[in-house]
Amino acid sequence: MLTDEFWLDAHFVACRAEYESMLRTAGIRSGDRVLDAGCGSGSFLPLLSELVGESGRLEAVDQAQANVAAARKAGFQARTGSVLDLPYPDASFDAVWCANVGQYLTDEELAGALLEFKRVVKPGGPVAVKDVDMLLMRVHPGDPFLLARLAQVCAEAATASVQSRGSVRGRELRRWLEHAGLMSVWQKSELIERWAPLPRQQRGFYAEWLAFLAEVASGQALPDADLEAWSRLRDPAHQNHPLNHPDFYLCEGQVLAVGRK
Ligand SMILES: C[S@@+](CC[C@H](N)C(=O)[O-])C[C@H]1O[C@@H](n2cnc3c(N)ncnc32)[C@H](O)[C@@H]1O
Repeated sequence: MLTDEFWLDAHFVACRAEYESMLRTAGIRSGDRVLDAGCGSGSFLPLLSELVGESGRLEAVDQAQANVAAARKAGFQARTGSVLDLPYPDASFDAVWCANVGQYLTDEELAGALLEFKRVVKPGGPVAVKDVDMLLMRVHPGDPFLLARLAQVCAEAATASVQSRGSVRGRELRRWLEHAGLMSVWQKSELIERWAPLPRQQRGFYAEWLAFLAEVASGQALPDADLEAWSRLRDPAHQNHPLNHPDFYLCEGQVLAVGRK
């Protein structure tokens, strides 16, 4: 599962610069009481802690007990709970941050989670939601439509996982926040671009991610040429894997939408 601690930390480290600059624009101020909703193992908590400073306060919530335990072990206040039914009273936070969680929710659940974020934030406070948009991902050298076709068959398959729909919903976020009744909503998409030669950690992360997507692709009704291309992406040691090409390029798109109560 991409919600496991390995993936959370590895993706965060691979994209740290861009992720942190997104969080810095979310409107969180020194002295704020902030909720990290769906905190995972706590990748964003150190920077959130820096932003709120000593006079601020952080709370983290996640539905996975193992992730809550990891956040607590790192010294943060964390509890088990769902973003669909937050275990906090109304208007108890100055701001809510929610990163990389919406992609795991159905449309109905996302709408419900946004109402919960609005409920627990004080009037005027920001609700900031960050998510991936898989339709912004490209790997070169390779067919520019390979990932788009995978995203499409996953989203349309009768057996499609929730994540398939959620992972192509990123650029709709602004509208979802508006429909939740948040005000002054804005959105900014960030294209995270990587070129060969990659640092070791980034190479390792993208090799694993492409292998994971290749595994997903292997069960889908895709053209034979696509299945062959995906089978090459399973093995980063293979000489024809794009990571081993001097022209290797990868981009992924991350979206931040912020609205106020
Ligand atoms: C990809 S991780 C993101 C973690 C962290 N926010 C980050 O960006 O590193 C998704 C997290 O959402 C949590 N999650 C998924 N659905 C949830 C729900 N309904 N309520 C609370 N947490 C949820 C998962 O347990 C997981 O920790």
